[in-house]
Amino acid sequence: MAFPPAFLDELAARNPIEDVVGQYVSLTRRGSNLFGLCPFHSEKTPSFSVAPDKGIYYCFGCHKGGGPINFIMEVEGLDYPDAVRFLAKRAGMEVPEDREHSSVYRKQERLRALCKEAARFYRQELFAPGGQEARDYLIRRGVSSQTVSRFGLGYSPNAWSALLDTMEKMGYTKEELRDAGLALQSKKGGYYDRFRNRLMFPIIDVRGNVIGFGGRVMDDSTPKYLNSPETIIFNKRKNLFALNVAKKSTRGQLILTEGYMDAIALHQYGFDCAVASLGTALTQEHTQLLAKYTKAVVLTYDGDEAGQNATRRAIPMLEQAGLQVKILRMQGAKDPDEFLHKFGADKFQALLQKSENQAEYRLQTLKNRYDLQDDAQRVSFLKEAAELISTFTTPVEREVYGTRAAEAAGISQAAMEQEIKRAYRRRTAQAKKRQERADLDVAGQQQPREKGIRYANLKSAMAEEQLLAQVLKEPTLLPTVKLLPEQFSSPLLGRAFGLLRQCQLEGRPVSLPSLEGDFTPEEMNHLSSVVRRRDTLVSEQAMADCADVIRNEYERTVRTGDDALRAMQQKLRTKKGYGG
Ligand code: CTP
Ligand code: MN
Repeated sequence: MAFPPAFLDELAARNPIEDVVGQYVSLTRRGSNLFGLCPFHSEKTPSFSVAPDKGIYYCFGCHKGGGPINFIMEVEGLDYPDAVRFLAKRAGMEVPEDREHSSVYRKQERLRALCKEAARFYRQELFAPGGQEARDYLIRRGVSSQTVSRFGLGYSPNAWSALLDTMEKMGYTKEELRDAGLALQSKKGGYYDRFRNRLMFPIIDVRGNVIGFGGRVMDDSTPKYLNSPETIIFNKRKNLFALNVAKKSTRGQLILTEGYMDAIALHQYGFDCAVASLGTALTQEHTQLLAKYTKAVVLTYDGDEAGQNATRRAIPMLEQAGLQVKILRMQGAKDPDEFLHKFGADKFQALLQKSENQAEYRLQTLKNRYDLQDDAQRVSFLKEAAELISTFTTPVEREVYGTRAAEAAGISQAAMEQEIKRAYRRRTAQAKKRQERADLDVAGQQQPREKGIRYANLKSAMAEEQLLAQVLKEPTLLPTVKLLPEQFSSPLLGRAFGLLRQCQLEGRPVSLPSLEGDFTPEEMNHLSSVVRRRDTLVSEQAMADCADVIRNEYERTVRTGDDALRAMQQKLRTKKGYGG
């Protein structure tokens, strides 16, 4: 474990779960627990609970759970050490950085400083005599000097070590430049600049740190863009270009584009809410990041096949993060940058205003796939449209789009309505059947939901869950349990049991928050669900009964294991003719 246990206990004590969560979720008391709307999935009725006595939160809807550190990791998108630092700051505590952590932390700080200096260097080079070609290119692309300075654009000289030399003079090492993704090592071991003769786009995180670069050629050579590799400060899955500027926008929505140049052009034309992904597909980390700054996202991906596929993929991901999604379709230009230069800001604003919501978009896409002059195709369209519309959540939506689809296909409204009702009934009947089957499938329900966690022996695992929940409720009874962690059939539950016992020996609180640093967030989700699901009465006898089951199951499996082993040995011996 990275931080001293005593510090972590103090951290937990000074950050009561209900206070920490209460800063993000409005909570209402119900009995000894508090409830609110889950911040991790979108819902209308509260299934997110906080149990102050246990020091944990747990959502009965999406099954996320854990202590205050896990909560901050999830909600702020931080890793474990950063979440600890966050809570320490919140409680006004000093963090005793252990050696390993502080060295990584210090190194990150150093690379951030290096990237900042590199950005400054590239910017100077853009305005130096050698930057003439780059300046001409920017003018040709219609990028104003104000935009250049707002985004800190620069130019990497056409030389092998221009950046290396400058940074070394400032006291940075070649290895540091490599670790920042700015220098490469040749086979012979020498170092050279990664970015040469390119227009440079610094990538800046939401806190204002330069963490990487994109570099564009100024002709038709390839690759068109070169990007910083992943480093200890640069993660493409977690960052978006221009969000540091767009997060301050008052437009009430964020525009998501595919390219640096698109985001930049949008800002220049007054759409200061534009961001771009970093040459990768949209990730869940991206959608969570977006959801921190806005409620609505407008997708303006390219009109080509790839862009349309990306749009289709992004819609449910953004919706899952609780975002309202709109899709902006452009005609006469392949991307926002081209559109703005061709048609201007007003035309784009008009598109933005009528940017379709995703229901319209999906219906439109469907319509484009059929030739509605053809009778047979019209019937197919009717069926598929009804299927699609039946998935819309509100009756109003179903009615509005039903009417629209009927008009498009030249079908009577009544026929359409009937088709949608039929599809709707079929879908709800199917859902009901699925639910019933799931309810019946008891064993299936008892298996953990978290990926990668499976119970090998359900009978024992149920007793282990029960026992663990009781121990956490009444830690004073823990010493009465005569079991070894190895006797648990579930390694995860056994490990938790062992660590709780260790906590008790060390005089630390016997609680889930004490274990946060020892388990992955997924494992904590599962442990929290165990505690919340098994809220039973505690008694020494009940605990002894659980321990008996666990011990018996353990002995039984060991015995069968031994029997199997003996049988195998026997067989081997006979085969080799050694006799019995
Ligand atoms: N990209 C990349 N590597 C490439 C090509 C593209 O990383 N070889 C990423 C860049 O982040 C780029 C985005 O994909 O911004 C979109 O690519 P594209 O549409 O080709 O570039 P634009 O941003 O439109 O740039 P330009 O208008 O200058 O061609
Ligand atoms: Mn472009």
